Amino acid sequence: MFASIRGRCGPAKQLVSTVRAAVPRGRTTLLAAGLICRANYHKPVRNEAFKRLTKDDLNFFKTIVPSETILATAQVGGTADAVELEGFNADWLNKYRGNSQLVLRPKTAEQVSQILQYCNTHNIAVVPQGGNTGLVGGSVPVHDEIVLSLRNMNKVRSYDELSGILVCDAGCVLEELGNYVGERGHVMPLDLGAKGSCHIGGNVATNAGGIRFLRYGSLHGSVLGLEVVLPDGTILDNLSTLRKDNTGYDLKQLFIGSEGTLGVITGVSVATPQRPSAVNVAVLGVPTYECVQRAFKLARKRCGEVLSAYEFWDANCMGAVLKHHELKSPLSAEFPFYVLIETSGSNKEHDDEKLGALLEELMEEGIAEDGALAQDDSQIARMWSMREGIPESLGKTGATYKYDVSIPIPVLYDIVGDIAQRLESASLYKPGDMTRPVKIVCGYGHIGDGNLHLNVVAGQFEDRVTEIFEPYVYEWVASHRGSISAEHGVGLMKRDYLRYSKSPEMIAYMKRVKDLFDPNHILNPYKVV
Ligand code: FAD
Ligand code: MLT
Ligand code: ZN
Repeated sequence: MFASIRGRCGPAKQLVSTVRAAVPRGRTTLLAAGLICRANYHKPVRNEAFKRLTKDDLNFFKTIVPSETILATAQVGGTADAVELEGFNADWLNKYRGNSQLVLRPKTAEQVSQILQYCNTHNIAVVPQGGNTGLVGGSVPVHDEIVLSLRNMNKVRSYDELSGILVCDAGCVLEELGNYVGERGHVMPLDLGAKGSCHIGGNVATNAGGIRFLRYGSLHGSVLGLEVVLPDGTILDNLSTLRKDNTGYDLKQLFIGSEGTLGVITGVSVATPQRPSAVNVAVLGVPTYECVQRAFKLARKRCGEVLSAYEFWDANCMGAVLKHHELKSPLSAEFPFYVLIETSGSNKEHDDEKLGALLEELMEEGIAEDGALAQDDSQIARMWSMREGIPESLGKTGATYKYDVSIPIPVLYDIVGDIAQRLESASLYKPGDMTRPVKIVCGYGHIGDGNLHLNVVAGQFEDRVTEIFEPYVYEWVASHRGSISAEHGVGLMKRDYLRYSKSPEMIAYMKRVKDLFDPNHILNPYKVV
């Protein structure tokens, strides 16, 4: 049983019934599972300067990579069924969909180099793809670009157990790397709900944040080196395993978060921290957003260096996750907000004491009204699944609009109420009424990082809904000097809104960087800038 925090003197709480794993490998998309309607988003017009593929191109690629690593439809001289390419053409949200006729899955950086060199010479557009879990439409083609999937590049190249430095192929799945380093007493410096499918190369390309960001910081700090193939085929071998290297410009930083628009990441060197030997997780029921903030302040004060995660979600998220994941709340009632606090350290007694004192204080002060403390690893996993299962459960409810924003913490949740109000005024939404075009408006996120995920779940993606919050959300964020993309990236979704977070001068320099690395703009066209 979870230990109820009040339950030290009251009844123990019920066990949560199921543990949901991270997004599994080879998961079906929500659309393929027949769950939601596809978007009618406004596609950029095809750039007719890009060559349309022919059988000759396919024949050339057959000289570079083995045929079993190629998926080509009859349209380009192959034999694959369009259905076989579906998983490469549609994104995780089924909001964006391309029409690629060719998927290449090279096994080496050398093969990637030859492919890109050919594409650059012939002006053929290419989309690098990892686990295809991206949430901004960056990982799928817009039109008929070749999909260059990294999934066959999935080997660990080296691991130094003393320093914890891992060098691996870009197509390694994050969860598998976590298991690999876990067996050697370390952890990956990032973790996210999509770990069962996403690749380390995709994580680097999106500069993914996730639930360990509070503790280990950004990939800009953890990534020590990269191997990147540039559009002209040049292999930039910067797979450094050095923690310190001040020899001029740190070029790898440009590729971290470049979303496949500057080069194809084929190898990653990353520092993996020591695995904490003591981990505690508690979930709290909290009456107001004000209390969510107060609890965070106190958690930092009382837990100090052992505080490793501080996540929150609201009642609407909780409703969806409990319904779709067949979970039971470890708490005795429903609350407007929920908070997950994790501590990680090396001395269990010390951490227990710190967290215990924090929880008692939160209850005594009325900042939290109920709480449960996990008693073992499986309960820890169940508590995390309540938080990490939110995106999937919303996706199962309907077409999910996602806004991933950084806003100063005091006003972070205001936008959720504001959007709900706007939708209500337009008669598109009424809380609890699932027959309306919009079914759920909710907020969750990595509050410790000032990162809110505002989600609006509708029956389908449609203009009358979109118009309520685009560009309104971006204007709102800009007015608070926030970021319109805290961690998911820009992709196709936000490329026309970049100006809300970047000045014209910054955008102009970003375009110059793009021109420098990819003068023909063959890599991930129509995205980011
Ligand atoms: P893809 O989706 O395949 O690609 C993403 C982008 O990177 C695309 O632009 C693509 O072109 C580019 N790319 C991929 N691989 C390469 C490569 N080798 N070289 C160059 N470019 C490449 N994100 C967070 O930041 N934090 C979270 O907590 C988080 N949680 C998530 C939970 C769920 C359930 C889901 C579905 C997604 C979540 N995401 C989160 C978003 C997503 O998982 C991350 O952005 C992830 O890092 C993408 O990795 P991927 O391998 O799936 O990349
Ligand atoms: C998360 O924190 O769960 C992810 O970023 C995914 C999402 O925002 O839905
Ligand atoms: Zn997130």
